[in-house]
Order: sequence, then structure tokens, then C-alpha cells
Amino acid sequence: MTGFSIDWLDLRESVDLQARDKSLAKLAIRWLKNISSPDQLPLILDLGSGTGSTVRSFDSLLDAESIPARWRLIDNDPNLLSEAKRRYETSNRIETCLADLSNIQKISFQNVNLVTTSALLDLVSANFVRDLAQTINAQSQLSNIALYSALNYDGTAKWNPQHPLDEKILSIFNEDQCKDKGFGPALGPGASECFKDEFQAIGFTIMIANSPWELEPDDHELTNSLIDGFAEVALQREDCSNSEIENWRSFRKNQLTSGSCQIGHIDSVALPPKKL
Ligand SMILES: C[S@@+](CC[C@H](N)C(=O)[O-])C[C@H]1O[C@@H](n2cnc3c(N)ncnc32)[C@H](O)[C@@H]1O
Repeated sequence: MTGFSIDWLDLRESVDLQARDKSLAKLAIRWLKNISSPDQLPLILDLGSGTGSTVRSFDSLLDAESIPARWRLIDNDPNLLSEAKRRYETSNRIETCLADLSNIQKISFQNVNLVTTSALLDLVSANFVRDLAQTINAQSQLSNIALYSALNYDGTAKWNPQHPLDEKILSIFNEDQCKDKGFGPALGPGASECFKDEFQAIGFTIMIANSPWELEPDDHELTNSLIDGFAEVALQREDCSNSEIENWRSFRKNQLTSGSCQIGHIDSVALPPKKL
């Protein structure tokens, strides 16, 4: 089991939906349209799917292009997958698959046209991304698979108004983001750079765009939980005193309904080399 609750994923989903870069999502979908054939529906493999947030973010875009895609959602959390199943029980185009991605070589990419991830790559290691690139390279005819990777945290948090401890707390949080989450040392803020390097190395063309969370007073529940997350991580370390951290937490919570915060993320699309 991992630590991602349905409540947490629900809490972030509307902000995620706003944040995702629409032009990159459309690019991935246009790519699918171009390689689709009338006799086989395109297959999208969503790694670390949770309850299917990427399916929901693609729904209207796929409809707009009249692409009846099939989805295979992979996660190692049975609760999240059964919630995904429950939400799509009337659809015969979505299947779920319980599997541990830390052994990516065991995942089949046969007949897959698009691999998607969201809020996943900052949890994984550099070895995972390299193995993902190598596995796709080895298992597929490269020209048949593209990748869309959304909402990878980039290590930035811009609070308004500012507080003197913001930078220090952020650097503690960013160090913590690099702890092992089951894949080896996590990439944290380095995720997008690593994705670009590994897929460029096997001939893919990479496009990137910023997809920040823009947290406004209406998003106070998510911001509140983020403030607690930052403070709890800082409390486990000795870089700041507990009273400094609690002062920071109170200052931030007092601003919940008047301040704002931008949390940086990056979306990427990797398109395979063209057939010769
Ligand atoms: C931050 S959540 C993102 C979920 C979903 N993609 C979204 O955007 O809402 C990360 C997801 O990765 C899954 N995950 C983490 N480690 C995993 C592993 N070793 N194998 C498969 N899934 C994993 C978690 O269960 C969780 O659903």
C-alpha cells in the first residue's frame, strides 16, 4: 500500500485539472489520432493511475477528436483501483491492473500507443525512468508509443504574502521529496529533467510546459493540507526550531482566505522517432 488516500487525490483533482497544460494534452491526443487505425482502438496505459484522474482530464479532449480510446490503469494500491473501477463501471473501455511499477521491466507495453503518468515521476528514481525508456525501447516498435507525463513537481513554491522562513521550509521539503518512495532515491524536483534526458537519449522529441497549481482562497482546503505537509516535514528535522515552524504555520493559515500560492509543476510529452 502507498500513502495516497482517495480523499487526498479528490482534493487535488480540480486544481490538477486547471493546472495541466492543455496544449500538451492536445498534442498527445493529436498524435493518437494520427496513428489510430479503423480496425483497432488506441490503447492508453496510465502508470500510477490512482482513481483515474488522467482519464477524466482526457475525456472531453478525446471526445472532441472522436477518439474512442481504451485505457489500462496500473497502480499497486487496490483501494485506488477499485475506486477507479467503481467510477467507470459502465464503461467497457477501461481496465485496471494491480501491479508494482518498481519492476517496470515486467510491465507489458504490447499494443500500447500512449503511456501517461500524472504526479508520478517525482516519486520515482532516475533508474526507474531509465528502465522505463529502455523497456519501451526493447518491447515496442518505437514509432508506436508516445508518452505524456503531467504534474511533475519542479521544486518551487511562491507564497503571497511572503514569510522570512518560506525559503528554508521549501528547501527542507524539497530534500524530503528525494527520499525513497519504493523506487530508490526519488527524483523530486529533478523528475522532468531526467525524463527529458532519458527519452532524448533513445531518440524521442520532448516538449515541456509549466503546469503550476495556482492556489487561491477558494482552494484553502488543499493549501491547508499543503501547509501542514510542509510543517510536518520541517518538524522532523533540526534546521529550524519548533516554535519558528509553528509561527510559520500560523502565519500561513491566517492567510488561507486572503493569500495565494503557486506550486510549480512541469508537463512533458515525448514523441517517438519517425519511421524511416
Ligand atoms: C500522487 S499519486 C497520483 C495518482 C494519479 N495519477 C493522479 O494524478 O491522481 C501517485 C500514484 O502512484 C501510485 N504508486 C506509487 N508507487 C507505486 C508503485 N510502486 N507501483 C504502482 N503504483 C504506484 C500510487 O498508488 C498513486 O496512485
